[in-house]
Amino acid sequence: MALLEIEDLCVTYRTDEGPVPAVRGVSLSVDEGTMLGVAGESGSGKSTIAATVLRLTPASATVTGRVLLDGEDVLGMSFGRLRAVRWSEAAIVFQGALHSLNPLHRVGRQVAEPVHLHGSGVTRRAADGRVAELLDQVGLAPRLASAYPHQLSGGQKQRVMIAMALACRPRLLVADEPTTALDVMVQAQVLDLLTSLVRDLGLGLVVISHDLAVLGSTCDRVAVMYAGRVVEEGPSAEVLDRARHPYARALSAAFPTIGDQSARFAPRGLPGDPPWPGDLPTGCSFHPRCPDAVEMCRTEDVRLRPCGPGHSAACVHVPGVPA
Ligand SMILES: Nc1ncnc2c1ncn2[C@@H]1O[C@H](COP(=O)(O)OP(=O)(O)OP(=O)(O)O)[C@@H](O)[C@H]1O
Ligand SMILES: [Mg+2]
Repeated sequence: MALLEIEDLCVTYRTDEGPVPAVRGVSLSVDEGTMLGVAGESGSGKSTIAATVLRLTPASATVTGRVLLDGEDVLGMSFGRLRAVRWSEAAIVFQGALHSLNPLHRVGRQVAEPVHLHGSGVTRRAADGRVAELLDQVGLAPRLASAYPHQLSGGQKQRVMIAMALACRPRLLVADEPTTALDVMVQAQVLDLLTSLVRDLGLGLVVISHDLAVLGSTCDRVAVMYAGRVVEEGPSAEVLDRARHPYARALSAAFPTIGDQSARFAPRGLPGDPPWPGDLPTGCSFHPRCPDAVEMCRTEDVRLRPCGPGHSAACVHVPGVPA
C-alpha cells in the first residue's frame, strides 16, 4: 500500500466571481522512501493539493475524491484524529514558510513547539535535546538554537522549517516550493538535504516546484500539472527527457541544460498565459497555447493515457500503449 494515495481529487473554491475549480480530478501516489515532484505554472493547483493532504483547505473550498494516508481517509477523519495525524504522521513545509518564523523568538523555541504540542509532559531538557538532534539532522549547528531568525540566511531558515516539520517524526513530508527563494547553490544544498532525509529516514516526500529541472534531478517520479490537472506523470528521467505532453515538453525545454550546445535544448518560452480556472477553455485546457493543437483538441478533454512503463500523458497525440 502506498504511503499517500490521492484519488480523483477535486477542489473548488467558492468566490464572489463564481466557483474556481483549482484541482480537477488529480490522482497521485507516493511510497515510503521515495520522492514525488509536482511541477506546474503558477495557479495550476499545486499548493491546493498540498493543503488537502492534511485537510488544511479553507472553508470556502469543496473537496471531493479520496486522500489516503497509509490507507486512512484524511477527508473522513474526525478532528481529534486529524490533530493527532498532523505533524506526527504527515507534515507540510508551506510555500514561503521561511518568512513565517516569529522574529521575536529564538529558533530553538520555535522548533520545540511541535515537540511540546504532541508530547504532553516533555521536559524542557528533553525538548532541548530533541531540538539539537533536529538541527543536526538538517545540517545546522545545534548552537543556532539560540539565534533569532534575522541572524540566519534564507537557506538556514528553510532548514529550520524542515527541522520543525520533522519534529514529530512524520512518515510523509510535503515541501511546497522549498527552494524558490534561494540562490542556485543553496537550492542544491536544500535538495541534497531532502534527498538524504528520504534515504536515511525512509520518508515519503512530495516536493512542489514550478521548476521542472529542479525536480527532475532529485525526484523518483514527477507529475506535471496544468490548470488543475496532471497532464503527464512518470519516472523523472522519462518525463524530463521524453515528455509526451506538449506542455510538459515546453516546461522541460524552458530550462537550459548546462554543457549541452544543441539547439534542441535552447531555452524556449511558451506563448500566452495559463488560463484562469474560473473560465477554462473547452476541450483540452492547453489547446489555445499548444503548438500541436488540432481541431479535436477544442472539444476532446483527454484524460491520462499510458505511454510507457509507469508513464502516462493526457494528449490526443499519445496513442496509448499498455503500461
Ligand atoms: N482561498 C482561495 N480562494 C479562491 N481561489 C483560490 C484560493 N486559493 C487558491 N485559489 C485559486 O486556485 C488556483 C490554484 O491555486 P494554487 O495556490 O493551488 O496554485 P499553485 O500551483 O500553488 O500556484 P503558485 O505556483 O503560484 O504557488 C489559482 O487560480 C488560485 O487563484
Ligand atoms: Mg503554490
